[in-house]
Amino acid sequence: MDIREKIQNRSAKIGVVGLGYVGLPLAVLQAKTGFHVFGVDEVAAKVEMVNQAKNYILDVDDAELRLVVDQKRLEATTDFSVLQQCDIILICVPTPLTRNKEPDISAIVKVLGHLANYAHPDMLVVLESTTYPGTTEEVILPALTAKGLTPGKDLFVAFSPERVDPGNANFKTHNTFKLVGGVTEGCQEVSKLFYEQSIVKVFPLSSPRVAEMAKVFENVFRSVNIALVNELTMLCERMNINVYEVIDAAATKNFGFMAFYPGPGVGGHCIPLDPYYLAWKSKEYDVHTRFIELAGEINENMPYFVATKLQRVLNQMGKCLKGSTILVLGVTYKADIEDPRESPATKVMELLHKEGADLQYVDPYTPSLVIAGQQYTSQKITPELLRQSACALILTAHSAFDYDLIVEHAPVVFDTRNGTRQVTQHRERIVLLST
Ligand SMILES: NC(=O)c1ccc[n+]([C@@H]2O[C@H](COP(=O)([O-])OP(=O)(O)OC[C@H]3O[C@@H](n4cnc5c(N)ncnc54)[C@H](O)[C@@H]3O)[C@@H](O)[C@H]2O)c1
Repeated sequence: MDIREKIQNRSAKIGVVGLGYVGLPLAVLQAKTGFHVFGVDEVAAKVEMVNQAKNYILDVDDAELRLVVDQKRLEATTDFSVLQQCDIILICVPTPLTRNKEPDISAIVKVLGHLANYAHPDMLVVLESTTYPGTTEEVILPALTAKGLTPGKDLFVAFSPERVDPGNANFKTHNTFKLVGGVTEGCQEVSKLFYEQSIVKVFPLSSPRVAEMAKVFENVFRSVNIALVNELTMLCERMNINVYEVIDAAATKNFGFMAFYPGPGVGGHCIPLDPYYLAWKSKEYDVHTRFIELAGEINENMPYFVATKLQRVLNQMGKCLKGSTILVLGVTYKADIEDPRESPATKVMELLHKEGADLQYVDPYTPSLVIAGQQYTSQKITPELLRQSACALILTAHSAFDYDLIVEHAPVVFDTRNGTRQVTQHRERIVLLST
């Protein structure tokens, strides 16, 4: 049976490689769509959890995971040889940076090492991990065609970036529009057909490099705009202007403006990393992507800005940072999710620790964390805990926080996210990034 038929009658077997924030929701979606899915991960503990239907990703619905596992539509394994039985492979492994901010695609290369053995005629392989333009054609394709398979004829290869926004209540994997760039017309046709079975709208593109570039451009766009508003915030701080009021005012324009908000820095597995993939690749073409570097510089400076401003806030109260109890509220990289990766809160806390602050934190999504080699445990937020601190420092504005309680009991609240915007009482105790 031809792969197109197998896709349409759901008999195609799917291998999702990497069961993380991207891979697990995708594996569950494909299993729900009716395909048989093998989830492959090198971490045995994750594989065991999936097979026991123990959910570890907030965006995955517990009941849906339980259903597809019970129905044996989703099976997880550390054994890459299952890929041999698969008709479709979706690669969702991490693409971090090296210490020198260069792309580290070693996880992709490792997967290709396995796939080179298991690739067979009529197989579709799609890379979903974010990477620099050119990866699919320069790295994926040679590894898969080494044994004589021909793209577009008996092998189908494409790049289809995952754009999911963890924690977004409205947009999940199935209704986040999908880009697909096939290596040939045939690859594009088959990959589009596949994604159309489960995703509401699929946009075919002329090549994988367009799709790869579009994905990094989306994240560069966010990084640059966040940097712009962070820079404006530092200026507003000097000029004693409330930056949030400025943003709200600009947003009244009924065209041509899109609001971005300042914060203590950027985090997660995308915004702080992906732009550097493009910056690195661009050097091969003698182009220096100055916007990317500048945005990175401004965003990376924000934790320092927060730490310095906190010292000023305490100073005005006749206190110094050294020895003061700072109660950090929220440590994940954004609100209402459990992902602590690259969180600017970690950097801010490291800086405060270095200056001798006595740190405590509250985060309903992060039971414990290690800062500068020291283990911290999330506290229960109480009036006493707030009163005992010199300052409550909001780094991530989770909606679970009771902001009225925080402002009522903390001596001062340094709110780097404007989470206290609805609080009406004791506003004189609130310090924002810009005021
Ligand atoms: N998290 C996001 O919000 C998001 C959004 C869009 C795109 N992306 C991109 O998707 C990709 C995956 O990101 P993620 O957030 O899901 O990462 P993750 O770290 O949550 O998950 C990756 C999984 O891959 C596994 N893994 C690592 N190396 C492996 C290997 N060689 N073989 C098999 N499994 C391996 C890990 O154990 C982990 O379970 C990245 O390229 C990322 O940039 C992430």
